[in-house]
Amino acid sequence: MTGVPGAPRAVDVLAVGDASVDYFVRVPHIATADDKAIGRLAGVHGGGMSANLAAAATFAGARAALATAVGSDEPGRQALDRLAAHGVDVSPSVTVPGGHTWFCVIQLDHTGEKSLVGAVTEVKIPAAEQISDDLLRSARVVAPLADDLDWAISLAVRARASGAKVAVDLEPGAVAGRRDRVWALARHSDLVFCNQGAVRELADGDPARCAELLISAGARVVVVTGGRNGATCHTPQESWTARGPEIEVVDTTGAGDALAGAFTGSWILGRSLAESLRAGVATGSLCVGHLGSRAYLDAGTGIDTYARNVTLGAAPRLQGIR
Ligand SMILES: Nc1ncnc2c1ncn2[C@@H]1O[C@H](COP(=O)(O)OP(=O)(O)O)[C@@H](O)[C@H]1O
Ligand SMILES: [Mg+2]
Repeated sequence: MTGVPGAPRAVDVLAVGDASVDYFVRVPHIATADDKAIGRLAGVHGGGMSANLAAAATFAGARAALATAVGSDEPGRQALDRLAAHGVDVSPSVTVPGGHTWFCVIQLDHTGEKSLVGAVTEVKIPAAEQISDDLLRSARVVAPLADDLDWAISLAVRARASGAKVAVDLEPGAVAGRRDRVWALARHSDLVFCNQGAVRELADGDPARCAELLISAGARVVVVTGGRNGATCHTPQESWTARGPEIEVVDTTGAGDALAGAFTGSWILGRSLAESLRAGVATGSLCVGHLGSRAYLDAGTGIDTYARNVTLGAAPRLQGIR
């Protein structure tokens, strides 16, 4: 899959980053220091923020592709096979001979409490040089994983130079103590997603202030997610808020990725900001109703069915944009 300058772009959303395998274990209690918690395997599911984002974009009707790196092990093969089965073009991904695919072990107790241990291996994210300009030219939106912010900025700059739009999803661990790098990334981004943890790091917990800071830094659209309270999106001209229906929450892993992918897919297909938010919140809500961050894709519920149950309304416009 490569792009020729000036040719129509074959992919709507190209996610560049990680694909993991998540092992869910139901434990009698969450293990702490000097403790053990022997439980039962509750499921093995595909994960990884970038893989989840690409799959959710497909769910929203967009053509999505993933450029990741996996090991030549069984989990790596499974990770790519499952994504392909969900309609994600994995041809830009690489398999590293002899490498181990990165994985997570998620402990779940009977209260719904969870704890995640990630094992980053030598294989997780493709090196920037492995992402060719031709590949970037083949996409309408490029979504680099915003884990290593300098890596993400370099890809965002190249994606924009190739004529693509850029979407990034900020997580607290990646942005803590790095506000200057976050504003630099926002300058090269069209869509910025931000959860409550990132809002705490970037704007002392004030979601509207966080959106103002990101837009002042150069982002075109900011979506702030709020867990069970849904999400709000902003541009300098309009603001919308949406909330999903009441549902039984099974597992919140990957909810933010699902929202970001479905919003991005809808937005690049030309749907309005409000309808893109509706699609995003619908997908985030669907995601938390299943164990595993992409299990909702197998549940047979179409996005439109669920989107009808999302409550959408205008929100106060941002005041403090510089
Ligand atoms: N406990 C929950 N109940 C209902 N919906 C949820 C819940 N947690 C997440 N969601 C849905 O998923 C979206 C993203 O979740 P959020 O927790 O804000 O992001 P992240 O997964 O990045 O921390 C929310 O906006 C909402 O639509
Ligand atoms: Mg998230």
